[in-house]
Amino acid sequence: MIPSSAEAVDEQFRFEASHLLDEWSAGPADESAQLAVFDKLAVEIVAGSGARVQDRSGRWYWDLYGGHAVSLIGHAHPLWAAIVGEQARRLPFYSNLTPHPLRAAACRAIVDLAPSNLTRVFLTNSGAEANETALKLARHHTGRTEVIAFEGGFHGRTAGALAVTWNRKYRDYAAPGLGHTRFVPFGVVPEIGEDVAAVIIEPIQSLNGMTTATAEFMHGLREACDKAGALLILDEVQTAWGRLGTPFAADYYGVRADLITGAKSAAGGFPVGVTLVDDAIATRVKPGDQGSTFGAGPLACAAILATHHIVRSEGLMANARFVEQQVRELVSWPVRGHGCLLGIVCPAPSREILPRLRAAGFMAGGSDDPHVLRLMPPLCLPPEAVTEFAAALNATI
Ligand SMILES: Cc1ncc(COP(=O)(O)O)c(C=O)c1O
Repeated sequence: MIPSSAEAVDEQFRFEASHLLDEWSAGPADESAQLAVFDKLAVEIVAGSGARVQDRSGRWYWDLYGGHAVSLIGHAHPLWAAIVGEQARRLPFYSNLTPHPLRAAACRAIVDLAPSNLTRVFLTNSGAEANETALKLARHHTGRTEVIAFEGGFHGRTAGALAVTWNRKYRDYAAPGLGHTRFVPFGVVPEIGEDVAAVIIEPIQSLNGMTTATAEFMHGLREACDKAGALLILDEVQTAWGRLGTPFAADYYGVRADLITGAKSAAGGFPVGVTLVDDAIATRVKPGDQGSTFGAGPLACAAILATHHIVRSEGLMANARFVEQQVRELVSWPVRGHGCLLGIVCPAPSREILPRLRAAGFMAGGSDDPHVLRLMPPLCLPPEAVTEFAAALNATI
């Protein structure tokens, strides 16, 4: 077939893009222009396919780290890439000043997936922003200022999100902070006073070492919030979008949340922050109460819709449940968490185990608990990856 001129131009740019990307990626990465805030590994991950990633030398690894719980549908999913690429050719961005059909469809898809009391959504660009939005809405809705947060909880690096983050190694950098937070032990239902706007909780405290809430604790918390007239915010930045084998942790625990926040996997790797809002709160929000330039841009919304479509059409939530079952059967040490968000409590420190696992061809993560190794793989992780990983881990320790 003779290509039309538009197709020929497209083909030419695709060729040029590939050439330029190769040129920009040539040679080892010179990191000197970046603020040195990350302690980086000595391995450069430059490509991915499904549940595997490839380093610069061409070596493949099973990715049980998932780019920090971001890769949900697998790396470089061809349909996701085609949808995002096609939307980039149509209109990458236009602001919230005008309606857009993809924004409407993406928000509808998120609300349809969410528990039925959460009828509206506000989109931003990160988990920290999603939590800031939830805290702002909660304070405004209740007219109260105090927030209860949990020891071990992590909610992001912006000022408001840090104010409810427990570990001082993160919080003290922003000293003196915003205050108005009371930290209480995780797993114990706290006394909630009448000055409390909200309780914010990660149902599974991932960074802390996959400390996992019990159903009894989550339901007790809901009851205590109801009694005090406080709102319950679930920080589902790591647990949402099917990672636990259910759409949200709220579904896993069968507990009603007034606000749910999400990010990481929401758009399969495209930066998106999500704040889901209960109907009673949403109906009192007016134009001008909140805003975001980049939130809910057409490209982000195309990525959200592509991700939702692939999770559903490939039955990935069922596979998340299967991965957990397999890990629990094959690994010799205690396992925390659920679905594709798991912590293995190892007899040796993870900083010793992780390099050995990488040498054996597996990416995994550490945590603030030196003995907890984290697995946050794409939901498409195949059974042979878990079998091989368990054998490597058992041989490593
Ligand atoms: C539970 C939780 N909440 C919030 C955040 C902050 O998300 P972001 O880094 O996208 O701002 C994170 C990031 O790791 C997280 O794990």
